[in-house]
Amino acid sequence: MLVHIKNIVKEARAGGYAVGAFNVHNLETVLGVANAAMRAKSPAIIQVSEGAIKYMGLKPITHIVSTVAKNIASQVPIALHLDHGRSFDSVFECLNAGFTSVHIDASHLPLDENISLTKQVVEFAHRKKAWVQGEVGAMIGGHGRISGQIDNIPIADPKDVIMFVKKTKVDAIAAAIGTAHGVYDNEDVRIDLLKKIKEETKIPFVLHGGSGVDVDIIKNAVKEGVNIINIGSDIKIAFCRTLIKNCRDNPEETDPRNLLRSTIKAVEDVVVKQMEIFGSAGRIEFQDIET
Ligand code: G3H
Ligand code: ZN
Repeated sequence: MLVHIKNIVKEARAGGYAVGAFNVHNLETVLGVANAAMRAKSPAIIQVSEGAIKYMGLKPITHIVSTVAKNIASQVPIALHLDHGRSFDSVFECLNAGFTSVHIDASHLPLDENISLTKQVVEFAHRKKAWVQGEVGAMIGGHGRISGQIDNIPIADPKDVIMFVKKTKVDAIAAAIGTAHGVYDNEDVRIDLLKKIKEETKIPFVLHGGSGVDVDIIKNAVKEGVNIINIGSDIKIAFCRTLIKNCRDNPEETDPRNLLRSTIKAVEDVVVKQMEIFGSAGRIEFQDIET
């Protein structure tokens, strides 16, 4: 069922677990996340990037997620979120389309400009009763990239993050604290910074770059206060590897469904695994629905 993100995050904070925010790119990945949420009895955030919106169209993706949430993930809470919105126009469109949460990522701008754009977004979004996630300390890496090590992972200054939250009044905060977009061996989470930010801001913390981070590091980060974990690359990799194998094994196939069916299951499997790690699995009790 489609719900406001605040309801999902409220439960997660009370229960001491994190919720996955899963990037989707097409119908198959939406179905994979919805099936996973049902199988794991877990809440989920389904998020789209500007690139995914450009690929699918805002209206189609909004309707697909709403319909799948209502009809497939009917027993579990699902929220729709914009990931890494780079401009006011981008968040404006999504909020008007009915998203209950947007990420304004102006972290590439000087801090004062980041604060000023984020504040504008917060004022507009709050009038629509929607949530805003802000970001300090630009993340590096490429979505879907898999390579051994990544150099110079940036780390945000917690003083900047705390000041940013106070000035902008964002509802959730993302900050660079040791992870990167993509799958790398040397991703980490600076718990000292996480604790400082949490103590001072008291708002939900969003960990970007969740793919590839060691399971124990993630579990500890959740224990220390991470509330939302973004997963993008793991989904892209599961989808593409399965599709490539299917195409190689069946080069004469002419029915797209026969090539795509198992990609849904591949996405479902990686998402269920993450839900178990984040502690969100098994949190939802199914209701008896009268027919
Ligand atoms: O915003 C999306 C993410 O931060 C995804 O990062 O590709 O490393 O999972 P990831
Ligand atoms: Zn991200």
